Amino acid sequence: MTVTIVGSQLGDEGKGALVDLWGGAADVVVRYQGGDNAGHTVVEGGEEYKLSLVPSGAVRDKIGVLGNGCVVNPRTLFDEIDTLRERGLDPDVRVAERAHVIMPYHRVLDGIEEEAKSDSDLDAGTTGRGIGPTYEDKVGRRGIRVGDLLDPDVLRERLEYVVPQKRTLVEEVFGLDAGEEFDVDALHEEYAAVGTRLETEGMTVDSGTFLHERHERGEQLLFEGAQGTSIDIDHGIYPYVTSSNPTAGGGAAVGSGVGPTVVGRGEVVGIVKAYLSRVGTGPLPTELVGDDEPLADHIREKGGEFGTVTGRPRRIGWLDVPMLRHAARANGFTGIAVNHLDVLAGLDEVKVGHAYAFDGREIETMPTTTEQWERCEPVLKEFEPWPEVDWTAVAEEGYGAIPENARTYLDYVSTEVGAPIYAVGVGPDRAETIELQDPFET
Ligand code: GDP
Ligand code: IMO
Ligand code: MG
Repeated sequence: MTVTIVGSQLGDEGKGALVDLWGGAADVVVRYQGGDNAGHTVVEGGEEYKLSLVPSGAVRDKIGVLGNGCVVNPRTLFDEIDTLRERGLDPDVRVAERAHVIMPYHRVLDGIEEEAKSDSDLDAGTTGRGIGPTYEDKVGRRGIRVGDLLDPDVLRERLEYVVPQKRTLVEEVFGLDAGEEFDVDALHEEYAAVGTRLETEGMTVDSGTFLHERHERGEQLLFEGAQGTSIDIDHGIYPYVTSSNPTAGGGAAVGSGVGPTVVGRGEVVGIVKAYLSRVGTGPLPTELVGDDEPLADHIREKGGEFGTVTGRPRRIGWLDVPMLRHAARANGFTGIAVNHLDVLAGLDEVKVGHAYAFDGREIETMPTTTEQWERCEPVLKEFEPWPEVDWTAVAEEGYGAIPENARTYLDYVSTEVGAPIYAVGVGPDRAETIELQDPFET
């Protein structure tokens, strides 16, 4: 049995919280794309963990796999593992030998290209983690894979091909100085040592084989998507997207090495934030701006909407329902979890963007180009607001204790998405998530 957790909006929907909730029944938790651009929060008994690479199952002592579809920065990975160990956890992380390595020059290039793009407003507001440049090298067949770090001769050969190119790019195209991040000898020394550490600690695997064998034995696999469908490289608001496929199809199967039938026979659960938040750039039709700015400030403060990775204040908007319909179709959701219902409590008004007014007609899903999306005006639908209540008590009592107007909102979302609600988040803690259906038990 497998369960795939996917962000259905723009990232930061609360995926970490659901991976933690359902991770209890899993044997292995697998990240299948992205890298340390992710920031997944798990809160258990008031204790908060912010994870960027270590799969969120670590809090429940589950084996974590970074699949071949991930891009791995070993510096971040080791730092994160060490920090978690200091906090009393013992993360068991296996890294796919086919996963690509984020090298120091990738981070530098990420910053340089964002800066260059900013003049024409094409910068995505990246996390600066070198994600795009690393995936670029992967597709350009000049990347360095985790398996390459295990053989110093192969590593040297790869570095000697790619690093001079990067140096030329920085110096000749961008007219900047290439620093120590572009020094083959220094890189070789550091990354050969990374290979030794990975090997000594038994951390590298062939992720497809590893997962296949466990699945055959009847173990439960939980795939932990990072980012969200609307920042998917194929299905998102290009070019304001990340460089991987958070969606279940191209993401979970290809990025972990199990077949699409394995993922498809399992559950695919879309994680929905009850409103929108966005840490990067680009259009956002339902954004609360102008007269609505005080409302956005209120939601931002109450929901703690500041980037987990970068600390940037997130932009806020009403729930965008065409975006959710798009995500439900692209991922084939079998269920959804709706988070942050508590954050919308006590407002004077609750609205959603039900459809878009676009070039004189009404459309119910996202147009293909971002320029078209920018022209979309939300067709708003208003809901009766629900009051502030003691959410901890509501979580203890269960779904029926959720204020009626909030349940009407949830029913509407479920109907529009065409998938049942498996869980409702009314606070960040594990104990503040109301479970209606455990996807491992369907
Ligand atoms: P992820 O990247 O999808 O895992 O989400 P993040 O961790 O980046 O952002 C979600 C934030 O909301 C975190 O601070 C969570 O602790 C918090 N959170 C998750 N679910 C809920 C919820 O239902 N209500 C509230 N108030 N906060 C939540
Ligand atoms: P989690 O997994 C929200 C956004 C960045 C930027 C764009 C490209 O925590 O939901 P990148 O560094 O990936 O090249 O940036 O994608 N972005 C995220 N936004 N949550 C994330 O991850 C994100 N990861 C990347 O802000 O707009
Ligand atoms: Mg996040």
